Amino acid sequence: MTATPDLGLGVEPTPLALLLLGQRTDPDSERGTSCPGELPPASDPKLVDRARAAKAALGDSVFVLGHHYQRDEVIQFTDVTGDSFKLAREAAARPEASYVVFCGVHFMAESADILTGEHQQVVLPDLAAGCSMADMATAEQVAEAWDVLTDAGVADVTVPVSYMNSSAAIKAFTGRHGGTICTSSNAEVAVRWALEKGSKVLFLPDQHLGRNTAVQKLGLSLDDCVVFDPRKANGGLTDAQLQAATMILWKGHCSVHGRFSRACVDEVRERVPGVTVLVHPECKHEVVTAADLVGSTEFIIKTIDAAPAGSAWAIGTELNLVSRLAKQHPDKTIVFLDKTVCFCSTMNRIDLPHLVWTLESLVEGNVINRIEVDSETARYAKVALDQMLALPGV
Ligand code: 13P
Ligand code: SF4
Repeated sequence: MTATPDLGLGVEPTPLALLLLGQRTDPDSERGTSCPGELPPASDPKLVDRARAAKAALGDSVFVLGHHYQRDEVIQFTDVTGDSFKLAREAAARPEASYVVFCGVHFMAESADILTGEHQQVVLPDLAAGCSMADMATAEQVAEAWDVLTDAGVADVTVPVSYMNSSAAIKAFTGRHGGTICTSSNAEVAVRWALEKGSKVLFLPDQHLGRNTAVQKLGLSLDDCVVFDPRKANGGLTDAQLQAATMILWKGHCSVHGRFSRACVDEVRERVPGVTVLVHPECKHEVVTAADLVGSTEFIIKTIDAAPAGSAWAIGTELNLVSRLAKQHPDKTIVFLDKTVCFCSTMNRIDLPHLVWTLESLVEGNVINRIEVDSETARYAKVALDQMLALPGV
């Protein structure tokens, strides 16, 4: 069994965590896509040198993007790191790079492909790096849901707002219906914009980000929100409920952030005197309301960077990021909000062997694992992504 590194964050490894640290798949959170390839062995002591050499050989023709949840071994080779919003903007602003290597998950690479030029090719180092939340809303389910809204007489006044963490097909649906994409950095602006355009929002696919934005940022009440469950007839809602609601929240969630509970917040306040609790808005409403500060990964990083020496923080987001922040800020006390290890298993699939394989293949002229969105889907998805990039103040 793989040994768990000492993360120094006061966390205890669980059997699930050990699985997530290894090379095996997690059937609950991955689509089961295999990623065949001549991967170098993880034990190769020359992996770092090989990645460095391949990147140098590619020069400006390659641009490597890394989401904050990526492993340190991968982050060291990225040209830019960021949250999903910053990375979408960065991808769109590098027309000179022939190859965009996306160290993140599938929906992010799709967005990069949509936002980059025809001459650019986007590569995801491991095709199995999906996102369980994005998989919770399929294009068929969303089309059926729209029919339910139409039958209830509310589709005409409903504006879809889809979280970046969704497939290109869902983004295209959003563009076709006059909506916008949002990320955790701009969900408030996006929902405000949508509620000026219509009187209701269909928020896809993260119910927690939708609810937290509506209640905490816009001052709506929990009663203004209903949850549309795609597994139930008519979403499990009556016409009257759909007509009365302002926010129609899709029944999706992040399997990583969904683990944090109110009890975790209470426990850490007991354990770490004077602690400030800082969480991502994908956490449940009970966690967000009990926390002191809420924001995207970029917000979390900026907050910790600006914090005074000696301050104490409990952070509720993915563990690679929390662990990195703890290492970067030895003058501050930084603990993980949960007592057990909580990596994003799909983000973690991108490791140094996959990155070396990707870069060395590009040096040889082989573009492996290219992510290409078909032109019709890309056209409408771009409408929704461009709408996000044009939101006021974004
Ligand atoms: P942000 O990068 O927008 O904070 O989102 C976190 C996340 O879960 C990405 O998958
Ligand atoms: Fe998806 Fe959650 Fe992982 Fe982000 S952290 S990629 S939302 S499963």
